[in-house]
Amino acid sequence: MPDLTISRIVAREVLDCRGLPTVQVDLTLSDGTVGRADVPAGRSTGSGEARELRDGGTRFGGFGVRAAVENVRDRIGPALAGMPIASQLEVDRALLELDGTPDKSGLGANAVLGVSLAAARAAAAAAGEPLYRHLRRHAHVLPVPLVNLINGGKHASNDLDFQEFIVMPVGAESLLHALQMSTEINLALGEILLARFGKVALNTGDEGGYAPPMSSPDEALGFLHEAAERAGYADDVVYGLDCAATHLYDEASGTYTVDGERYDRAALIELYDRLIADYGIVTIEDPLHEQDFEGFAELTAATGIQIVGDDLFVTNPGRVAKGIGQGAANALLWKVNQIGTLTEALDAADLALRSGYRVVVSERSGETEDAIIADLAVALDAGQIKTGAPVRGERTSKYNRLIAIEEELGATAVYPGRSVVRGPELVA
Ligand code: PGA
Ligand code: ZN
Repeated sequence: MPDLTISRIVAREVLDCRGLPTVQVDLTLSDGTVGRADVPAGRSTGSGEARELRDGGTRFGGFGVRAAVENVRDRIGPALAGMPIASQLEVDRALLELDGTPDKSGLGANAVLGVSLAAARAAAAAAGEPLYRHLRRHAHVLPVPLVNLINGGKHASNDLDFQEFIVMPVGAESLLHALQMSTEINLALGEILLARFGKVALNTGDEGGYAPPMSSPDEALGFLHEAAERAGYADDVVYGLDCAATHLYDEASGTYTVDGERYDRAALIELYDRLIADYGIVTIEDPLHEQDFEGFAELTAATGIQIVGDDLFVTNPGRVAKGIGQGAANALLWKVNQIGTLTEALDAADLALRSGYRVVVSERSGETEDAIIADLAVALDAGQIKTGAPVRGERTSKYNRLIAIEEELGATAVYPGRSVVRGPELVA
């Protein structure tokens, strides 16, 4: 393994769950071992994210990634050929140098990330180890899933402004049990929504959660509670939101629109206080827009619950450091494609964890069947993963990989359950 080198890198366009093209990379080592990785894509993106390269024009509606694929084949491949695979840091450093821009617009973040992740996969395969074990010798903690059962915002064709209404099965005994609970709650939710709204309520959003015809966050949270109760898990779950508030914010007026009402920062914080008290919410992601570090700090101090920075941090160590300095949020949403290399993403996570921040490993709304984030969540010892509803192949591939890891770990596997919850006890 120490003297294995990169011999060949190829890439191709494949389709993600929205039917849009994305980059798939195969990286071959000198002993013939191949590492493959697919690159995910966001829809409600932060402005500070690394830049993916899209072709524009009419082909694939402008979403083609032929140029990124060519960059992997013609520029990255020849430059990395002969490099030792043993150090991810060296591989990623070479990628950064070759790209030469702060936002990966030189080669495209989708080209860079595909190679970075394929290199990690190849190194693990050559060592004969699962990726989670290769990255962390003593990895044995499964993540609690943040299961997104009702979709809104940019992920759904309904009038819910908040993007994700989440259930966390913290009372489960294992990851598999957590998924059983999630599915039973989801089935109950389907019945309840069908009875209330008719068939239209069973349409789903980008991450597989229901996208019912409603606009009020109270209504969505009320239905989640009812579903958990009907499924018999009222005391075993806690609740969360991803507000994706950058996309609800009007810069000109300095206000957010939720359910037809305008809120300034103070009023929105009041709304969150009420929702936390009424529904036992223990985690809120992007409650305010992506530049409002000060507001994040105020909310974090005031609520005591988990406040997660997604668009706020964009998995960027610099922005995470700024947030830590101000006390903005107390958890990092961790998406490797926001920054573009595994090494930088690991740096962001390390920095967060060292400073007492939690890390929530996350999918993007545009995923393929590639389940790499399951291994990364276990490798990071993150304790939390957000990978959509427990339906549709691009979401279940991650859950299914976690089930396999849990089985592989056997008696050493730990499901952290309630210990991941921070702040005031929930209202059951
Ligand atoms: P995105 O959404 O992948 O569309 O950016 C996910 C999220 O906001 O957490
Ligand atoms: Zn988010």
